[in-house]
Amino acid sequence: MLGVCYYPEHWPEDWWAEDAARMQALGLTYVRIGEFAWSRLEPQPGAYDFAWFDRAIDTLGAAGLKVVIGTPTATPPKWLADRDPDMLPVDPATGRIRGFGSRRHYDFSSESYAREALRITEALARRYGEHPAVAGWQTDNELCCHNTALSASPAARDGFRAWCGARYQSIDALNRAWGNVFWSMEYRDFDEIELPVGAVTETSPAHRLAWRRYASDTVVAWHDAMVRMLRRHSPGRFVTHNFIPMDETGVDNQALAAPLDFAAYDNYPLGRTDLLMADAPAEAFRPYMRTGHPDYGAVFFDRTRCLTSRGFWVMEQQPGPVNWAGHNPRPLPGMVRLWTWEAFAHGADVVSYFRWRQAPFAQEQMHAGLERPDRSQAEAWPEVSQVAAELASVALAALSTATAPVAILVDDETQWLTEIERQGNSYDYKSIVLQYYSALRELGVDVDFIGPDADPAPYRLIVAPALSTPKPEMVERLRACEAIVLFGPRSGAKTLDATIPEGLAPGPLRSLIPIRVLATETIRPDCPGEIVRDGQRFASTMWRETIDPGDCTVAATYEDGAPALIRNGRSAYLATLTDAAFLADLFGSLCAEAGVATFELPKDLRVRRRGPVTFAFNYGADEVAAPAPADAEFLLGGAVIGPRDLAAWRTT
Ligand code: GAL
Repeated sequence: MLGVCYYPEHWPEDWWAEDAARMQALGLTYVRIGEFAWSRLEPQPGAYDFAWFDRAIDTLGAAGLKVVIGTPTATPPKWLADRDPDMLPVDPATGRIRGFGSRRHYDFSSESYAREALRITEALARRYGEHPAVAGWQTDNELCCHNTALSASPAARDGFRAWCGARYQSIDALNRAWGNVFWSMEYRDFDEIELPVGAVTETSPAHRLAWRRYASDTVVAWHDAMVRMLRRHSPGRFVTHNFIPMDETGVDNQALAAPLDFAAYDNYPLGRTDLLMADAPAEAFRPYMRTGHPDYGAVFFDRTRCLTSRGFWVMEQQPGPVNWAGHNPRPLPGMVRLWTWEAFAHGADVVSYFRWRQAPFAQEQMHAGLERPDRSQAEAWPEVSQVAAELASVALAALSTATAPVAILVDDETQWLTEIERQGNSYDYKSIVLQYYSALRELGVDVDFIGPDADPAPYRLIVAPALSTPKPEMVERLRACEAIVLFGPRSGAKTLDATIPEGLAPGPLRSLIPIRVLATETIRPDCPGEIVRDGQRFASTMWRETIDPGDCTVAATYEDGAPALIRNGRSAYLATLTDAAFLADLFGSLCAEAGVATFELPKDLRVRRRGPVTFAFNYGADEVAAPAPADAEFLLGGAVIGPRDLAAWRTT
């Protein structure tokens, strides 16, 4: 269940066999290779050099390792960029070409590049699709990383025009839908439409939302074609993709994952914590500087697992300091092991480390690997070795991941809409999702993520931090299910064309909770108001709506007594952003009402169940008691969990 990312092209060939033997000895099974090797696989146009790749795969296979090949399409070679310069993307912010010299220098709208990407994919799939050592494929690498979903190229503009034509059919319909009478923005023809970049000031939200949808559809179609090509020539092998955090792709992640056997995630907890806590005060950040925040790996494990509901992999696991965050500290001893087990507890089938050996050259030479450049064992080595030994005592493969009792309803379009129309600088959808997730996880609750097309029926409690444009079918399913459903502010705030819904927000959600949003204000996070619930006072911050509650029940108010939390049967609407204490209080009582067990856990302890086994992870600096029943049978650790340690127990 362990693997590693390996770049045979970076090392002398006479090291390969020994590398493979060491991987085997360490307890690794899978090796991902090839995803950046295009310039070596096709050094001249059309002249493939597969001989070295054959030998690499044969060497790894001979050592008993299973190979995952990454299609090398994230790094088109120089000759291709020079020959087909229309494949290069254009930076929407500056209008400049994003050229050769690193990676991801391609435009999803470029027809010539789409052809080239499929050509190299086909060549690899034909040659290795049925190789006995090849277990599966990874498509490209971290699609849309480095902000590459959107491009302002002529190809993207032409593609967008065609997309608008197909969606709106007539230019009058588009003008009406986008509200183009405003500021004389009306078009006479689809060919007059520009991309919403380079204008003097703000472009229309509907225009920008349409562009985001076009970009997402284009990425998804580009990727679907690659998956089809792999499947045609590689029967019986899995196809996956290594996702970056789903709120950074700029695409409909569910759609992107749809054709895959399972999704994979690249887990860099320290890098992620450095980015996500960049504005946190030092005293809040320091405890997690070398452990990662307890929820910033898990949240993406849960999101990745739920993209397909067919298990998931960690394709890249941080093994030491990385090179790309604001600051790149060393993990504390024990953390690589803890992160690995945490992924397994959340349902991972394989955890694969990035990378086998630290490269002494090029962009990532300061990024740790399992080995140092001099081939000595780096710090994570003994921890990986320990996990490999421990795996025998847990029999993970037999532990299925059950549906969680609670789901967070997330929506990529809500993220786009709220980025397009921020309304307040501090409104940040992805931080709100994280805040809701943390509040539930601190209560010891297992969480699934569902999208706007999911079936809500299996859940007892569903929270939607914001669901800007609820589709009627989802509203119907929510009405028909038995879950308690909490909507956060901005839910139902917009139509599919980014306008205010008829009858005011929350638009179609009014059939579940007949209230009206009369006004909206955003305020600075350091100037909060209050939300009062059962006599207790909490912060109401950043986003506040004024609500006409109609005949619904007011369950909490603002400081002036106006409604802030409204209930109607199983539906609840929270009209403001708030603090962790309020969410803990509210989610605690909603869980109790929904019959979902919660726990009082030490601050930095997280639990997660997989089949009959409960795992507990101590991110804190002090030892804590495992929240296990007296008759628990411990598989890992024991009744006291040391700092940065874990325990796993089975209950009967
Ligand atoms: C990932 C990427 C890898 C490598 C790694 C470094 O995002 O897929 O190729 O760059 O980061 O941490």
